[in-house]
Amino acid sequence: MKTTSKVAVIGLGNIGQAVAGNLAKSEVQFIVADRNFEKAQKLSEKWGNKVQPNDIPAAVKYADIIILAIPFEAFEGFLKEYSSDLEGKIIVDPSNPIAPDENGGFRKIIGEKESAGEIISSFLPKSAKLVKALGTLGVESLMKSAYKTSEKAVLFYATDDESINSDAEDLITDIGFVPLKIGGIDQSVRIEVFGDLHEFGALGKPVTLAEAKKKL
Ligand SMILES: NC(=O)c1ccc[n+]([C@@H]2O[C@H](COP(=O)([O-])OP(=O)(O)OC[C@H]3O[C@@H](n4cnc5c(N)ncnc54)[C@H](OP(=O)(O)O)[C@@H]3O)[C@@H](O)[C@H]2O)c1
Repeated sequence: MKTTSKVAVIGLGNIGQAVAGNLAKSEVQFIVADRNFEKAQKLSEKWGNKVQPNDIPAAVKYADIIILAIPFEAFEGFLKEYSSDLEGKIIVDPSNPIAPDENGGFRKIIGEKESAGEIISSFLPKSAKLVKALGTLGVESLMKSAYKTSEKAVLFYATDDESINSDAEDLITDIGFVPLKIGGIDQSVRIEVFGDLHEFGALGKPVTLAEAKKKL
């Protein structure tokens, strides 16, 4: 176990469940929260006694690292609603700014060169720190590629705040991947859907550290 900070996973949809399920395989004790408390309670029972359910306001207050596994469109409201309790905290943003298109695929809902990471950074509460991470793989790969016993798969991350590199890296390690920083939040577009370092962009699949380094 590397992570020593208090962690909460908020939003237990596809990605929140994949992240929490992976993290539950480590020694980290953490909180899960969802708008539906019963859902958090049921899932935490499945993940074992290192994982405790709570409501969202309590989870925000408790944690130092908050994995916000909610839709991109919900970030602004969430960060504003909880702004005072989020001051000084680390917010992990896995979001992709996409919506279904008319052909059964996805389309970007912000400008082609814009990123959710940069937009979200403009709503950050005072002294909160943002890490763009955990959204580089689709949910299936996020579950299947965790804790590889041969060569571990990479999860890229981006942050402007050097002081939280180790927090991001410890978390990614405890989720079962190898962390690789790509730069600041202005690089987020590369690790969001359609980006050159995203599974549903030019990357195409989970990659090892050696493969990932060639692409940076
Ligand atoms: N699915 C993927 O393969 C994938 C891959 C990479 C990144 N991502 C990103 O990960 C994030 C979550 O995606 P997902 O696929 O897990 O979506 P999802 O299955 O629809 O789950 C979204 C979760 O966010 C909650 N939520 C929505 N609005 C909220 C709000 N205002 N406050 C609190 N909770 C709220 C939902 O709660 P309710 O059930 O109450 O609505 C649900 O628990 C998104 O930003 C997405 O772009 C997804």
